[in-house]
Amino acid sequence: MPQSTLLYSPPVSLPRLHAHLGAEVVVRRARVGDVPRLYEIINYYAVRGDMLPKTMDQLYNRVRSINVASADGEVVGCAGLHITWADLSEVVSVAVHPDFQGTGLGRRLVEPLFDEARQLGIPTLFTLTLQMGFFSRLGFREVPKLHLPHKIWQDCKTCFKQDRCDEIAMVREV
Ligand SMILES: CC(C)(COP(=O)(O)OP(=O)(O)OC[C@H]1O[C@@H](n2cnc3c(N)ncnc32)[C@H](O)[C@@H]1OP(=O)(O)O)[C@@H](O)C(=O)NCCC(=O)NCCS
Repeated sequence: MPQSTLLYSPPVSLPRLHAHLGAEVVVRRARVGDVPRLYEIINYYAVRGDMLPKTMDQLYNRVRSINVASADGEVVGCAGLHITWADLSEVVSVAVHPDFQGTGLGRRLVEPLFDEARQLGIPTLFTLTLQMGFFSRLGFREVPKLHLPHKIWQDCKTCFKQDRCDEIAMVREV
């Protein structure tokens, strides 16, 4: 069993999917009613060590900065923008339901964040990820973690990985 599962194990299983692959998918801003579903999707991957977990509290606090993909009215993916500082924002909580992966949905969720950052006047995005291939295709490049400002390590205080962090830092100018 991965150590992350031992240290943090939210009571979630992958939400059953009712939407089918041919359904019309729209990308929109998250609503508070989406939060329980976001909690399930994100933490389904988090217990596997693929991404950082989120609490319901964090999701309600950040709901205004999260975009969701909705298929036949059912949330099947998400991505968020977390402002770090005047010149830097983090792409967070990128997840697509396994049945919808490989259909371009991850790209559709992340690309609008570039415009959002631009409109906010933020020149650079970063992400901490194990999905280098995906983020490379979206124009991110790997950088040494220590090139990012100290401020980004705020979340590490509460992260189960802490000093054993295996995530790769990647940045993209917008
Ligand atoms: C990573 C994830 C969001 C990608 O979503 P997706 O909808 O499958 O990705 P897309 O279909 O939009 O792929 C976009 C591009 O990235 C490429 N890509 C996607 N996953 C890839 C991978 N693992 N390795 C290499 N390239 C990949 C695709 O080929 C595609 O390339 P193209 O548009 O140039 O043809 C999805 O696999 C996922 O939810 N994974 C589990 C959670 C996770 O690890 N999230 C990342 C947290 S940082």
